[in-house]
Amino acid sequence: MFCLCKGKNMFFRVKGVFDNFFDMSYWNGVRKKIESHLKQYNFSEIETPLLEYVSLFERGLGYETDVVSKQMFIVETKGSKDDKICLRPEGTAGTMRAFLELQAQLSTPFKVFSYGSMFRYERPQKGRLRQFHQMNLEVIGASSIQYDAWLIKMLHVLFLEKLNIDSFVLKINFLGQLEDRQAYSKALQTFLEEKREHLCQTCQVRLEKNVLRVLDCKSSDCQTIIENAPELSDFLSEKSKQEWQELCDLLHELSVTFMHDPQLVRGLDYYNKTVFEFVSTDLGAQSAFCAGGRYDGLAKQLGSKSEVPSLGCAIGIERLLLMLEAKKEQLSESKDLLICIIPFDQEQHTLALLLADDLISKGKCADVLLEDQKVKNKMKKANNLGAHFVLLLGKEEQENNTVTVKNMMSGEEKVVLQTEVLKNL
Ligand code: HAM
Repeated sequence: MFCLCKGKNMFFRVKGVFDNFFDMSYWNGVRKKIESHLKQYNFSEIETPLLEYVSLFERGLGYETDVVSKQMFIVETKGSKDDKICLRPEGTAGTMRAFLELQAQLSTPFKVFSYGSMFRYERPQKGRLRQFHQMNLEVIGASSIQYDAWLIKMLHVLFLEKLNIDSFVLKINFLGQLEDRQAYSKALQTFLEEKREHLCQTCQVRLEKNVLRVLDCKSSDCQTIIENAPELSDFLSEKSKQEWQELCDLLHELSVTFMHDPQLVRGLDYYNKTVFEFVSTDLGAQSAFCAGGRYDGLAKQLGSKSEVPSLGCAIGIERLLLMLEAKKEQLSESKDLLICIIPFDQEQHTLALLLADDLISKGKCADVLLEDQKVKNKMKKANNLGAHFVLLLGKEEQENNTVTVKNMMSGEEKVVLQTEVLKNL
């Protein structure tokens, strides 16, 4: 997939990105299914720019997160060095920035989705790319924990019932309020400090800078240590405990099956309270295909005077498509039946173009094969293009105002008047 060979005078794609030449109807089919589901839940579509200020993510996601400290694609511009710009690594900070800019004109909860490319400088592997696509969903201005249950239920229905995925697990954790996490971080730091030399290099740094991230380290040494670490749920305030209980009860009422994962902290610092991930065993190491949570403090981080409690998630489209590969046929957008027009010689080219125009104006999908080739080769080409019908235009047809219609599925052939082609397709 990531071809690094450099031919003389040839360009190859940048590492970790890809060209989509063959699967667009599959991509669009899945995307439309998701979008129509979201519209049923009254989400509206928005679009935010690919370019944002680096500082938006530094403040929004946190300076010490991997995404900000290691994975940003910074764009070289002629502008001031103080206004560094980057390709967006995720959609939440940009959506909140846009909401805050236009807040006076918007009502809450502001329920929106956006689809597009995200960019992260990561080591490419299956399900992990440097340019990837997300369907990003945000519910801005929604303080009740019941919204969390509503969002998770909506995703559950999407994956289970609309896309018929049965190989996923929903993991949820409750991070509580900032004060709960601060108390917990201290306890965790004290616990890990004694075992410092047994932690991996990265976690030794995390111990100082972002101790919660040690919890989702994949190294087996760190995992063994974490097994006996204090648990965040023991540090939740009474209010947080009640909210967590309310969320669990509501999810049970709504028949959403989930697993409490006390080590799930997520890699972005804006989360509080609920965090969740939909993971699949079919995906290997990069197993999360949808992830998100609540981010009540983000608006203030970005300069808002008042708090704007919010929640959201993003679906990783490449990972979702990998999981749905076996259902590709059913999920692909249905194509219009293709009609290929084959003029035998130059003399029939104008007639072929006029005929194609007429069919297209009547809503059909038509292509004309204008290359100077033998009819036999053009027939092969029409077959490769997946033509349902071929319209053959030779000298005889031209003189008699007729066309030979060949049904490529049945092999049946008939000569009809050019004015009656439509009736015979
Ligand atoms: P995230 O967990 O960083 O969250 O990404 C969400 C999803 O995007 C992942 O679960 C995964 O499916 C996909 N993804 C992430 N990185 C890559 C990559 N390098 N290659 C392919 N797929 C990838 C966020 O981005 C948050 N903004 C989600 C959110 C929205 N939280 C609240 N609102």
